Amino acid sequence: MAERSLVLIKPDAVRRGLVGEIIGRLERKGLAIDAMRLRTMDRALADQHYAEHVERDFYPPLRDFMTSGNLVALVVSGDEAIAVIRTLIGSTDGRKAAPGSIRGDFSLSNRENLVHASDSVDSAKREIALWFPELAE
Ligand code: PPS
Repeated sequence: MAERSLVLIKPDAVRRGLVGEIIGRLERKGLAIDAMRLRTMDRALADQHYAEHVERDFYPPLRDFMTSGNLVALVVSGDEAIAVIRTLIGSTDGRKAAPGSIRGDFSLSNRENLVHASDSVDSAKREIALWFPELAE
């Protein structure tokens, strides 16, 4: 079934020059880019985007990292796009992510792990509305 996901190419990937590599992997898989924007996340947007994590111990360093520089926000679509993208990205901790996945190939961290992607149809709807209100359903 066709789905849409919000993808964030995080500030570590922008700093390391991995934007083209990551977008290339999404495109070569056959996924479509419906929208794309370079921008920064301010603290208020971080608190909304990560609403389910704001009380967690790991949230303050996560927020500092996510607001530390430019990121690339995309809406990506395709058949079962949410699960397909999460497989391409790999598990949260780059030290444990499978080789061949983006995190498995390029990350050694569970914070500086290069990419965020929506984890369900409901979170995709919520996140797309936050980042690309003009595309909200
Ligand atoms: S959970 O508990 O399964 O919902 O959390 P998880 O999906 O593993 O992680 C949610 C996001 O939090 C980031 N994260 C961390 N940031 C900083 N420090 C630590 N220790 C840490 N652990 C997890 C993780 O990278 C996830 O970010 P997103 O942007 O959602 O990928």
